[in-house]
Amino acid sequence: MSTQHTEQVAAQDKISSIGLEVKGADLENNILDAFRSRIAVAIAELSEKSADDIFALLDAPKNPEHGDFALAVPRLRVKGNPAQFAKSWAEKFVANEYIVSAAATGPYLNFKISHALLAKTLLNHIYGKKENYGVNQTGVGKTALVEFSSPNIAKPFHAGHLRSTIIGNFIKNVHEANGWKTIGLNYLGDWGKQYGILAVGFEKYGSEEELLTDPIKHLYDVYVKINADAENDDDVNVRARAYFKKMEDGDEEALALWRKFRDLSIGKYKNTYARLNVNFDVYSGESQVPNEKILNALAVLKEKNLVQESNGALIIDLKKYKLDVVVVQKQDGTTLYITRDIGAAIDRYEKYNFDAMYYVIASQQDLHMSQLFKILELMGNEWVSRCKHINFGLVKGMSTRKGTAVFLDEILEQTKISMHNVMKQNETKYEQIDNPEEIADIVGISATMIQDMSAKRIRNYDFNWDRMFSFEGDTGPYLQYAHTRLCSIERNCGLDINPDVDVSLLTERPAIDLISMIAQYPDVVKGALRSLEPCTVVTYAMKLSHTVSVALETLWVMGAPKDLAEARLLMYWATRITLGNSLKLLGLKPLERM
Ligand code: ARG
Repeated sequence: MSTQHTEQVAAQDKISSIGLEVKGADLENNILDAFRSRIAVAIAELSEKSADDIFALLDAPKNPEHGDFALAVPRLRVKGNPAQFAKSWAEKFVANEYIVSAAATGPYLNFKISHALLAKTLLNHIYGKKENYGVNQTGVGKTALVEFSSPNIAKPFHAGHLRSTIIGNFIKNVHEANGWKTIGLNYLGDWGKQYGILAVGFEKYGSEEELLTDPIKHLYDVYVKINADAENDDDVNVRARAYFKKMEDGDEEALALWRKFRDLSIGKYKNTYARLNVNFDVYSGESQVPNEKILNALAVLKEKNLVQESNGALIIDLKKYKLDVVVVQKQDGTTLYITRDIGAAIDRYEKYNFDAMYYVIASQQDLHMSQLFKILELMGNEWVSRCKHINFGLVKGMSTRKGTAVFLDEILEQTKISMHNVMKQNETKYEQIDNPEEIADIVGISATMIQDMSAKRIRNYDFNWDRMFSFEGDTGPYLQYAHTRLCSIERNCGLDINPDVDVSLLTERPAIDLISMIAQYPDVVKGALRSLEPCTVVTYAMKLSHTVSVALETLWVMGAPKDLAEARLLMYWATRITLGNSLKLLGLKPLERM
């Protein structure tokens, strides 16, 4: 290429990019936006509508044969016959380096893009971005606080907590991928009368040694035993209430024991969460809500005439909002779950000045959350509009062979054993794996997580021990397998990744489909922030895996002429990066071998 030609191209690029500042287009991070912008600018000139509006309306054609982008002309709201406009704009459209044709189908305008240019710019872009491919900076400067998991000390870690952990981690990852700063917070159930019961129980059944070996299990055992006693012996309840009152009054001795339970439990939780690839920036909890924040909140509520006395307790009547009556203080002056939530929300806003706060909690607590948000609003906290309850449905049938699972590591252990059994069924493959236990652990966890995130959050689902571990169908193992296949191509082909190969050799239909699929990933990341539905990313990862498996049937790297082999290798490498990035976004650890 002559210098003169290079200069000419550069100058042209500059000119064309001047008219290309379309709102919503992210030319830095989304290669498809360069194509969309050119369509938007061209149609803006013909239609006298703004390029920004046209850009926002561009969609994928219903029938992929029709092209790469479609514009439903009626949605532009121009006066006249949309089909007529579509026809005349298609005729006037001047093809360019990016957009090779425009055609009208009824009121739709369909565009075909240059796949050679897409392949070249996209693969180059991914080569530069690697692990960062797909992310954008739209959230820079904003902070999201994500409260998730939040189990109760001395009580079972149930399916609801598992879902909250998986979905919450995803919500956090999605915000980071969109440029937000995030704070992951675990709001432990570590306060309330039940800790009085636990203390009374520990005196009778507790063992220092067992507490140190497995705090979560031991405290649970103690709790079960003392609760059985409490059924027949009201003295337990009386002492428990008195103990909790001491805790609320700040009695150091009462608090020291409780603190020990809490610290040991957190230590154990951390290990188990690590297995799930989850960590928290803050271990908070109901106990950590500053008393003064609660007292202040109660004062504001009184001052605004929002509370009433009822038999010595304080209540808020929310019946006119169809939200029942809420008790915020008991007769003995102690606080309740909701009171602590009110104080906690205010405390968090003051501490973190968040732009968004998410509560990832099962839909059983819909009423509680609506009450909380309504109370905060009535108190005059306008920032309540930044808070959102991320709710989800129930899981049925999550029991292990030994019965109902009560601890997170029990659930994970059962998953690992089941996955290991499935792996052993394929003897030849099994023998090639050096670390089957570790692989079984990761694939088993992937199976559990993908099953959880496959449908809309609000849907209930059955924990299906057989289906989720299958390597066929829309499962976690299937996704991991697709990833490892791509890794093995890179390992075994004997070629290096070369970003300068001639990608115009990638002309077959399966290659074009695969490249278009990879190109959509930045849209998926952006869309996930809007919907906050993990299934959107699962669906994408599944489609990408199907598309690559179709390509792998015919487009081989090994045995192809060197330049073609290199071009295909670069395409599969970019697929592996994209699939890996989507798995990480979902919270999975992408495997290289299995
Ligand atoms: N610990 C509670 C439970 O297990 C969940 C806490 C939810 N978060 C909140 N801010 N209320 O039911």
